[in-house]
Amino acid sequence: MINSNMKIISSMSEMKQWRGEGGKIAFVPTMGGVHRGHLALVELAQKKADRVVVSVFVNPAQFGENEDFAEYPRTLDADLALLAGQGVDCVFMPDVREVYPQGVDAGFEVGESGQILCGKTRPHFFNGVAQVVRRLFAIVRPDVAVFGQKDYQQLMVIRQMVEAQALDIEILSADTVRESDGLAISTRNQYLSDEQRQVAPVLYSMLDELRRHILAGGDIINLTKQTRKALEKHFKIDYLSVLDANTLSAITGNTGKIAILCAVFLGSTRLIDNIIFKG
Ligand code: PAJ
Repeated sequence: MINSNMKIISSMSEMKQWRGEGGKIAFVPTMGGVHRGHLALVELAQKKADRVVVSVFVNPAQFGENEDFAEYPRTLDADLALLAGQGVDCVFMPDVREVYPQGVDAGFEVGESGQILCGKTRPHFFNGVAQVVRRLFAIVRPDVAVFGQKDYQQLMVIRQMVEAQALDIEILSADTVRESDGLAISTRNQYLSDEQRQVAPVLYSMLDELRRHILAGGDIINLTKQTRKALEKHFKIDYLSVLDANTLSAITGNTGKIAILCAVFLGSTRLIDNIIFKG
């Protein structure tokens, strides 16, 4: 379903006009470097609305000082071709000055779920994510917005923000799209050397092994320790946590859904992955 008339918009006023043309609007925010994971979100968005808008914006506010903002893949031509090939109606590529007319607000409120896991090692991160998503929501005014389960904590932070601010936007999530060897697809996978690329799928296979052992009734604390040891042979671990998937707090007798959440470094590349399953 190639859309050769895909609209490409970079100003807020044009976006407002496009929005005003009506119908139910689904929104897929991205930072570009478009891959099959992003396209799966678009596919879900298309099922839920009349028109789909994808944003491509490498958000400076969510990168720390020593992180990869400058190197982050900017592959606009390829992105536009992939999005048109998927039948996207509109691509929004705002200018940083329109996204942050008053600069970045370091004090932007992020709920509790943004303080742990990725929020601990990257304290700026969810502040930047929540802020850009809030601003994009205000400009695009979607009915529905779609996020990947790949970034499970991000999804939770955004759901929490939508609830806290009583925004009238339905948040949907799509399953993680993986390479055939299990590695979760990510724009950052391009940073991996050939050798590292061979090692990377071990992350998912070990998380999946942990899931199977938990389901078999093993002790979660011991199993997590063992998995941490096994992961350490290949990666530098940022965190590995097994939590209640609905609350991101410790598992209790009432936990229905379990989340195994992990971030590791392979060389200087940070990989995150998770598995969510019924406990
Ligand atoms: P980005 O990493 O480009 O991801 C955009 C969306 O694609 C996010 O919702 C993410 O969870 C989803 N995604 C990424 N890889 C995926 C995969 N393998 N399978 C399924 N979905 C996947 O996440 C961001 O950008 C930014 O933080 C953003 C929300 C755009 C704010 O700047």
